[in-house]
Amino acid sequence: MSRPLVFATRNPGKLVELRQLLPGIEVLSVDEAAHLIGTRIAEVIEDADTFEGNAIKKAREVSELTGFPALADDSGLEVDALDGAPGVYSARYAGEHAGDAANNTKLLAALAGVPAERRTARFRCVLALADVRGPLGRETITTHGVAEGVLLEELRGTGGFGYDPLFLFPALGQTFAELGVGTKGDLSHRAQAMRAIRPKLLAYLQQQLEV
Ligand code: IMP
Repeated sequence: MSRPLVFATRNPGKLVELRQLLPGIEVLSVDEAAHLIGTRIAEVIEDADTFEGNAIKKAREVSELTGFPALADDSGLEVDALDGAPGVYSARYAGEHAGDAANNTKLLAALAGVPAERRTARFRCVLALADVRGPLGRETITTHGVAEGVLLEELRGTGGFGYDPLFLFPALGQTFAELGVGTKGDLSHRAQAMRAIRPKLLAYLQQQLEV
């Protein structure tokens, strides 16, 4: 019998993206998995100093708690002129509960006076698959995605979330907040990592059915 896959996120948009990518696979949210096994699952503390470390930690903890294979992602923005900051602190750059607007304001202030040619940055995403009580054991499968861009001096566009209105994607001359959901969904760092994990995930789940 096939086991469901849990996506260790409470972000409904990410769940929709993963389900679209994996038709025919039962993908549960953390809360759905918790409900199924009659428990509560607390937020995993993201205290690793790399995206990979955080993604693996989240995937392992959720897999351990549910007994199912679990996929987790971690992502953020690396700015060259800031030596890679905000990096793993992207969500809480301006403080624990600061939010997107405060994060963007802080980023603009940090880059004040930095000329266009030195405002290069990239979004990174790491996806990790863990199945602590299954054949993977302590092993994990990870994939990466990167989107390169340049940070503007003012916000442009109303779509997306996070740093999207400041992140110009040079090949299209638009910020991530100006691109439609479909276009961003095709070329983003997360889309790349998801496309890369798809065949590995399908092979792993298929292999279990054959055992
Ligand atoms: P998480 O991986 O969902 O925890 O995202 C970490 C943080 O990185 C988010 O809160 C955003 O600030 C930033 N981030 C990650 N991906 C994106 C994106 O696609 N657009 C804009 N900001 C992003």
